[in-house]
Amino acid sequence: MSLISPDRWTVAQAAELRYWQSLDLREILRICAEKPDFLALLDDRVQFELFTRKEVLEIGCGPLGLSLASFSRHKTGLKRLVKAEPLPPLPAQATKAAGETWAAPFIAWVEQLAAEGEYLQCPGEELIFDGDFDTVVTYNVLDHVREPEGILRNAYKALRPGGTLLVGVDCLSTVGRWRFEYLTRHTHKGSILVEAHPHTFLPRDVAAMIEAAGFRMLAMHGLPSRLRGFAGHHTRPAFLARK
Ligand SMILES: C[S@@+](CC[C@H](N)C(=O)[O-])C[C@H]1O[C@@H](n2cnc3c(N)ncnc32)[C@H](O)[C@@H]1O
Repeated sequence: MSLISPDRWTVAQAAELRYWQSLDLREILRICAEKPDFLALLDDRVQFELFTRKEVLEIGCGPLGLSLASFSRHKTGLKRLVKAEPLPPLPAQATKAAGETWAAPFIAWVEQLAAEGEYLQCPGEELIFDGDFDTVVTYNVLDHVREPEGILRNAYKALRPGGTLLVGVDCLSTVGRWRFEYLTRHTHKGSILVEAHPHTFLPRDVAAMIEAAGFRMLAMHGLPSRLRGFAGHHTRPAFLARK
């Protein structure tokens, strides 16, 4: 169980807010570019099944309001998209990036994507949906939350029977996790890296949490090799599971 205290989560969210408020053009481009990269772990048929004619809930879309689904070509078939996020919405126009007037068409496109679906300001642990969705997505979120298991339990509850969960989350190697937990947490105390990441995971921890919430694992894509899983850089695998 990886529950943290409400105070520790407040610290994490304060760091998160500082990060989003300081977004420059380079960072918004990176945020956008990493999503199609992640989706590329899933083949086209899987994306069709996740999004086409589906009611989709995303937990932790970020204050820009950019859903992972907005970067799939199958978004055109979405029936409903609800984007839950604890921070208040932040229009791309209000970021430093908007000062780059030559990039105005890009900022306008980001705002267009952000307007897709409904923005719901709420932490994932407090969602009260019950059998309302076909797909739940949570991308780059579980290591930032108060109670990852609570989010997954609410994702399970929010899904109809047979619904699908897609999780993307940063996973460290065994050595990388040891280094982060026992060195970086002390040497970089106060940094956004440490403050905004109250949890760290190995891929097997994520799979175990998903199963403990009641899901049946369907597939895991982008897992590291044995060597990389032991001592390599972090990875962001895709975990697919069924209710
Ligand atoms: C690294 S950001 C990723 C945002 C977005 N998914 C993306 O990839 O652009 C992590 C997000 O998780 C959100 N978050 C933190 N705690 C949460 C919670 N308890 N429930 C839902 N989202 C949470 C943060 O506010 C932040 O927007």
